Amino acid sequence: MDKKILVTGGAGYVGSHTVLQLLLGGFKVVVVDNLDNSSETAISRVAVLAGEFGRNLTFHKLDLRDKAALDRVFTSSSFNAVIHFAGLKAVGESVQKPLLYYNNNLIGTITLLEVMAAHGCKELVFSSSATVYGWPKKVPCTEDFPLCGMNPYGRTKFFIEEICRDMYRSDPEWKIILLRYFNPVGAHPSGFIGEDPSGIPNNLMPFVQQVAVGRRPTLTVYGNDYSTKDGTGVRDYIHVVDLSDGHIAAVRKLFEDSNIGCEVYNLGTGKGTSVLEMVTAFEKASGKKIPLVMAGRRGGDAEIVYASTEKAERELNWKAKFGIEEMCRDQWNWANRNPWGYGSPDDQN
Ligand code: UD1
Repeated sequence: MDKKILVTGGAGYVGSHTVLQLLLGGFKVVVVDNLDNSSETAISRVAVLAGEFGRNLTFHKLDLRDKAALDRVFTSSSFNAVIHFAGLKAVGESVQKPLLYYNNNLIGTITLLEVMAAHGCKELVFSSSATVYGWPKKVPCTEDFPLCGMNPYGRTKFFIEEICRDMYRSDPEWKIILLRYFNPVGAHPSGFIGEDPSGIPNNLMPFVQQVAVGRRPTLTVYGNDYSTKDGTGVRDYIHVVDLSDGHIAAVRKLFEDSNIGCEVYNLGTGKGTSVLEMVTAFEKASGKKIPLVMAGRRGGDAEIVYASTEKAERELNWKAKFGIEEMCRDQWNWANRNPWGYGSPDDQN
């Protein structure tokens, strides 16, 4: 096996875990990342975790919108496929700064596609999101549900999916897999790499983790009047290592199926878990009490979202293995070993 994969955003949360699984699977990996919301430490730790495979990892600090720099990467290596993670992902910030999101996510992706086409690399795996299902009329979400963009961030995911479908329509040599992630949580079981958002976390588990290590006093629960088992929102949490393995399955599919075209797959577990169930599981795993403050619903939040996993199981031969106990165990292991993420108390807020 000497396949070489370009990973954009490979220093980020899902990116770094996927780079590790790629290396362990025998792939050569080149990461490009502008380190906007990620740390180069993640890359060096991945290289250590990969052991002898660590030598197959190269890193370039680069913004995808820097077309000349990206072109140089494609000139110096030839890639069998690209996995495209790089992008901004904070919903609230995207509402405040829509142009920042459209510029970064859309221009970055368009530049990447242009450079790929110029170098004859037409195999792509893209990080989409369950956010494109909005507030689904029913669950589980299947890939053929109607799509929408609920906010600028969500619209960038939706637009990029549409751009990819148009690329394939215009040139059937493209082979593209769009992966719709549900809610990635947890960390590598080593506790060496994990999620380290800058600023105040937007998502549930990074916030819970920061309460557990004493960085924040309480968790605000957004809404306990939903029509769910305990009134709190229900989501499909998926262990980040399972999610990463889903990318390896997708890359293999690109190489094995010459008729893949442009396909979309959900990556989730198919199980719905409420906010309170998740908090209880984390308290059990960590032995820490998470003080709660009940608040109103967060704007734009759906009530119940979980995946149908049938298509990915059938066509990618991939299925999530871990449950919420393992997710919380590994999340706590990472938090306990790295209470300040990859940084220090001095450079956090
Ligand atoms: C959120 C984004 C979604 C994005 C995804 C990325 C919104 C509206 N949606 O999804 O577009 O693709 O993250 O992972 O931001 N919760 C709390 N307290 C908190 C944080 C969250 O109660 O401090 C609740 C939420 O109301 C929700 C659940 O926890 O019921 C999960 O929230 P979150 O982790 O932000 O994920 P999503 O809302 O599914």
